[in-house]
Amino acid sequence: DGRQFPHPGHRRPVIGDLLTVDRSRPIQSMLEASRGLGPIWELQVLRQRLVFVGSAALTAELCEETRFCKALPPAVAALRDYAGDGLFTAHNDEPNWQLAHELLVPAFTKSAMRSYHPTMVETASELFDYWDRQLAHGPVDVSRDMTKLTMETLTRSAFSQDFGSFRSAEPHPFVAAMVTALETGRRKGTVRTLPGGGALAWLLDRRFARHQDYVDDMLDDLIAARTGSDDQHDLLGIMLNVAHPETGERLSPVNIRYQILTFLVAGHETTSGALSFALHYLSRNPECLARARDEVDGLLGDDPTAMPEFEQVAKFRYVRRVLDESLRIWPTVPGFARGPRESTLLADEYRMDPDDYAIVSLGAVHKDPEVWEEPDRFDPDRFLPENVKKRPPHSYKPFGAGLRACIGRQFAIHEAVLVLATLVHRFDIQADPDYDLRVTERLTMLPEGFELTLRPRTRTA
Ligand code: HEM
Repeated sequence: DGRQFPHPGHRRPVIGDLLTVDRSRPIQSMLEASRGLGPIWELQVLRQRLVFVGSAALTAELCEETRFCKALPPAVAALRDYAGDGLFTAHNDEPNWQLAHELLVPAFTKSAMRSYHPTMVETASELFDYWDRQLAHGPVDVSRDMTKLTMETLTRSAFSQDFGSFRSAEPHPFVAAMVTALETGRRKGTVRTLPGGGALAWLLDRRFARHQDYVDDMLDDLIAARTGSDDQHDLLGIMLNVAHPETGERLSPVNIRYQILTFLVAGHETTSGALSFALHYLSRNPECLARARDEVDGLLGDDPTAMPEFEQVAKFRYVRRVLDESLRIWPTVPGFARGPRESTLLADEYRMDPDDYAIVSLGAVHKDPEVWEEPDRFDPDRFLPENVKKRPPHSYKPFGAGLRACIGRQFAIHEAVLVLATLVHRFDIQADPDYDLRVTERLTMLPEGFELTLRPRTRTA
């Protein structure tokens, strides 16, 4: 029926392609196994059949909003247990998606970033001060500390809670409970697809419930405490106080809780992974580091502890290219799913019905040899405007596509550029020359065991 796609390795009865997938690094092993299969391939794991596309041309087609829209594969649908009909996990036709999208877009514009800028500066300064105190104890664990930083920035920007991540060795109970709830939720999504997985998921549910209840109760208390106040200085304030200009509708307290959880989940590891990969590449490419530092020194001056004004962040053009190039090689959200609005032929060849979906495999698209020369080489200048113009429009999609693209893109970029710039301004960085990049897969991709030795710069000259 035109729907058989190449698959990696030797397919076995019942388990299908299960043995092709390394459970500790499913995305990377799947990418490796799919090399040479062409622009579209499939994976059948037990009862699940997943179709992937890995070329810029097919991605462009799936990004046509008139024909395709976001789909929710089981792993994303599983997140609905705690993020409900929040922006990320809502089905396209759920009324709360449209409402929340319209109410929240203004809270994520470039100009809205001006109001989050002081929080971002303050949190980054706390991390750097913490590092100053830690230096005597040896190298810093980059992914761990970047994850603390992005979580802390989000909790402060979203609901003005300071969890003191850099003042205490132990994570705040809220952060610990949320991380446990998330991890359990992710495992639940996986086991549900196994034979007998329902019972396992039920067992996990019992464990999950305690942590999730704690997180939910805390957020519900916070929402209740702020209800009635007209303060709009953070995301929670905006969600409580802004009504739809035409219909007057507002988000319900439960939906506000879903949105807060969504921002925390969608915004923290994604950004910390991007920061960590960028630092990995900077530490490995001395010319790139020198160019980044020249740019920042030129804009921030002699004092290594200087922090930028809001307007200065957009001027770190080279640092921004470093971030873009890191997200090309390691898109921290490794893919997104698109399904047809009506039955259609993809590439005039592959039939797709409304219940089908294809996953855009960003690790493959961002290295499509039709588009990217020497795709494994780290070269931030690929993102010079004149080079971007030469490429087909949908060859780079780290923030997804169309209406359901990332609402937090500006937030992530502003924070990541600010942190990278000020970090290289303040510290000399040195990686362990024996470290080979290892990537751990949680909800997103993160460098594992990546450490940097930092030395404070005294003067920037
Ligand atoms: C959606 C990537 C940071 C909030 C998405 C999608 C991608 C993505 C690929 C689309 C997913 C899909 O189609 O299923 C990233 C990356 C980030 C990042 C790579 C950092 C480098 C953030 C931040 C926030 C955020 C900081 C919030 C503060 C969201 C939300 C959605 C989303 C709410 C769902 C939007 C909707 O469907 O209406 N993100 N994201 N993200 N992201 Fe991000």
